[in-house]
Amino acid sequence: MSETLINVNNLTKIFQSRMHKQPLIAVNDVTIDIKKGHTVGLVGESGSGKSTIGRCLLRLIEIDNGEIIFEGQRLDKLKKDDFRKKMRSRMQMVFQDPYDSLNPRKKIKNIVLEPIRLAGKMNGRDPDLVAGELLEKVRLNPSLINSYRHQLTPGQQQCVGIARAIATNPDFIVLDEPTSLLDVSVRMNVLQILADLQKTLGITYLFISHDLSTVQVICHDVAVMYLGKIIETGTVNQVFNTPRHPYSKALLSSVLLPDPSKKHLSCELKGEIPSPLDMPSGCPLHTRCPSAVPECIHSKQQMQDIGEGHIVACMRVVNGEI
Ligand SMILES: Nc1ncnc2c1ncn2[C@@H]1O[C@H](COP(=O)(O)OP(=O)(O)OP(=O)(O)O)[C@@H](O)[C@H]1O
Ligand code: SF4
Ligand SMILES: [Mg+2]
Repeated sequence: MSETLINVNNLTKIFQSRMHKQPLIAVNDVTIDIKKGHTVGLVGESGSGKSTIGRCLLRLIEIDNGEIIFEGQRLDKLKKDDFRKKMRSRMQMVFQDPYDSLNPRKKIKNIVLEPIRLAGKMNGRDPDLVAGELLEKVRLNPSLINSYRHQLTPGQQQCVGIARAIATNPDFIVLDEPTSLLDVSVRMNVLQILADLQKTLGITYLFISHDLSTVQVICHDVAVMYLGKIIETGTVNQVFNTPRHPYSKALLSSVLLPDPSKKHLSCELKGEIPSPLDMPSGCPLHTRCPSAVPECIHSKQQMQDIGEGHIVACMRVVNGEI
């Protein structure tokens, strides 16, 4: 059993929707454990709250309720300054669009060294040497240290984003759709680099993605989100091979290649996803779920272990009815 690096307990994040002038619950009472050295995939439709969870964990935004515990320490209780001093170098992020996230006016060496400089950890080392070593770790030629963003391919740009993220030897990186804008062949390369870095440096990843086939390749564990809630978690094997929540079944059967042996797992949802401004009562899926019964309209669903850490928020699954 791996130890837990991060416990997220009952995390809630509410935005004030400017357009509609009302609260929007982006993340709703989410609880999840992230194990040390593992990659947890966070999947779900657009707007389900995936990036918001990533941003809350790194304190890029403040949470409204709940706890974020990192190696036993309450991160959400740390003062902003203390978080920056103690935690910023241990927790990093790689963004979806490397073009947007790299400063066009800075040389690549200054981009990758930025987190080390911010943490005051250059300790008199030769900047060219340190930057070159970081580029080598992501399989880029160290001679690129004097280049600028526009001189690099999208794949190389994303590798620079990864080099910057690993510069301070972090324990944890949020990867927010890191390969979704890359061509398939480049994507596989970048995924391999991420997997190799995890092996050599022991980094824990939260891998946010729409692309379930990528998640299946790189992740150890998966959490499925629907309307701000996690509705199923487990190992990749549990969730991909024996999904139990009707939403996971629908998501997987709509995206993955049809496999006749898994026909019994398929599930079709009715209608459209509701607005997060008008959250359904009871089970959030009840407006679309083919297995819904009247009780689902009022009964809030708790995450329950259905065996070996496979956790599902559906009373009908837990009761063995579906
Ligand atoms: N700063 C903000 N202000 C108001 N609402 C926001 C803000 N950021 C996100 N939201 C809303 O919160 C909800 C969750 O957004 P989030 O970006 O976390 O979803 P996501 O799962 O990452 O989606 P995608 O797959 O499209 O990236 C959405 O309804 C979104 O419109
Ligand atoms: S609780 Fe009811 S509505 Fe929700 S997923 Fe289960 S069967 Fe469907
Ligand atoms: Mg997102």
